[in-house]
Amino acid sequence: MIELSNISVDYGNGTNQISALKHISAHIEKGEFVSIMGRSGCGKTTLLNVIGGIIKPTSGQYMFDCKNVLAFQNKQLASFRNKNVSFIVQNFALVNELTVYQNVMLPLIYARLKKNESKHRVDEALKAVDIVQYGDKFPPQLSGGERQRVAIARSIAADTQVILADEPTGALDEQNGRMVMELFRELNHSGKTIVMVTHDGELAKYGSRILTMKDGEFIHISER
Ligand SMILES: Nc1ncnc2c1ncn2[C@@H]1O[C@H](COP(=O)(O)OP(=O)(O)OP(=O)(O)O)[C@@H](O)[C@H]1O
Ligand SMILES: [Mg+2]
Repeated sequence: MIELSNISVDYGNGTNQISALKHISAHIEKGEFVSIMGRSGCGKTTLLNVIGGIIKPTSGQYMFDCKNVLAFQNKQLASFRNKNVSFIVQNFALVNELTVYQNVMLPLIYARLKKNESKHRVDEALKAVDIVQYGDKFPPQLSGGERQRVAIARSIAADTQVILADEPTGALDEQNGRMVMELFRELNHSGKTIVMVTHDGELAKYGSRILTMKDGEFIHISER
């Protein structure tokens, strides 16, 4: 489903130029759960952003479901992001001025979904991560683990094929970290494709494959 060929990403120019990704190729099947590990600065977030259509690589080819993502015009790209990928990040990326319910609803508003369908999806998503009772609260009133569940609910409601998670447990204690991983495991079993960056070797094992990066390249690939 995700086919990256010879992808390079350079930031800056001239003497300030940094090669964040160097001729990376990877193939991720529908329904896979892939963990990505590697030192700070090795290019993990950059890679997720390429997959999510946020960053356009300097060179290379990216096919998603046999479609050439790098050829998309703005409108197609926006629709690609909305329909296919959702991000879950370390600091949750919730809107503090909106309630939990509204935060989960947000991507559905962008997707211009019908109101009834949206409500149904939000209710189901809140139920799935067991935070129905927090619907009217605001993110700052919740614990880290609860906030991350809201972010996961948003992803469930958006119902994208792919979930891109960038150190989703980085701000959580061990117990909440495991809870988030169990939710990911359930999502994966329900058919979602997950690509997760983590620094934690134990959590990485939730993936069916671990890709290890160094200086913008893959150095090790483990199959489980
Ligand atoms: N917008 C940017 N402009 C210039 N350089 C950048 C930019 N974003 C990232 N970089 C550089 O590209 C390299 C890869 O960054 P990236 O954020 O992908 O690393 P990472 O593996 O996610 O690191 P971390 O584990 O600390 O999050 C780093 O050297 C970083 O300094
Ligand atoms: Mg990063």
